[in-house]
Amino acid sequence: MASVILVLNGPNLNMLGVRQPEVYGTSSYADVVAECERAGTAAGVSVDVRQTNDEAEMIEWIHHAARSKEFSAIVINPAGWTHTSVALADALVIPELPVIEVHISNVHAREAFRQHSFVSPVAAAVIAGCGIAGYGYAVDRAAALIGR
Ligand code: DQA
Repeated sequence: MASVILVLNGPNLNMLGVRQPEVYGTSSYADVVAECERAGTAAGVSVDVRQTNDEAEMIEWIHHAARSKEFSAIVINPAGWTHTSVALADALVIPELPVIEVHISNVHAREAFRQHSFVSPVAAAVIAGCGIAGYGYAVDRAAALIGR
């Protein structure tokens, strides 16, 4: 059975292409899903790509990953919760899976509040500033970490 990588996207990422294209580019959320699927196929893994604007739903998905053992790694763009959510960082530790943090923009070249991430200390790798190609790199790295 193919390993499955859970790809999680936080708030406002459903608005990609419409939302600040000068910062996030003109690709849509559907393009993110397609990039993850392309990279997954190339790396020999399946991907389950999700987006939510509800922090509780995101945390429930992570708890389900811990209970179900359905997934081998987590790729996450926590979006605004990156900079605010101890609860999300706490949840990401529970499944004991490799976590790859992705940001479309280079958060380090932006406002000071974006330069702290609660997620980075629990991530195996962080990819920022590569546009939506960063999701492909993250899926590729996750596949490598699980030995695919
Ligand atoms: C983001 C960067 C965050 O600072 C921001 O809140 C987002 C998107 C990115 O992908 O560049 O929503 O995670």
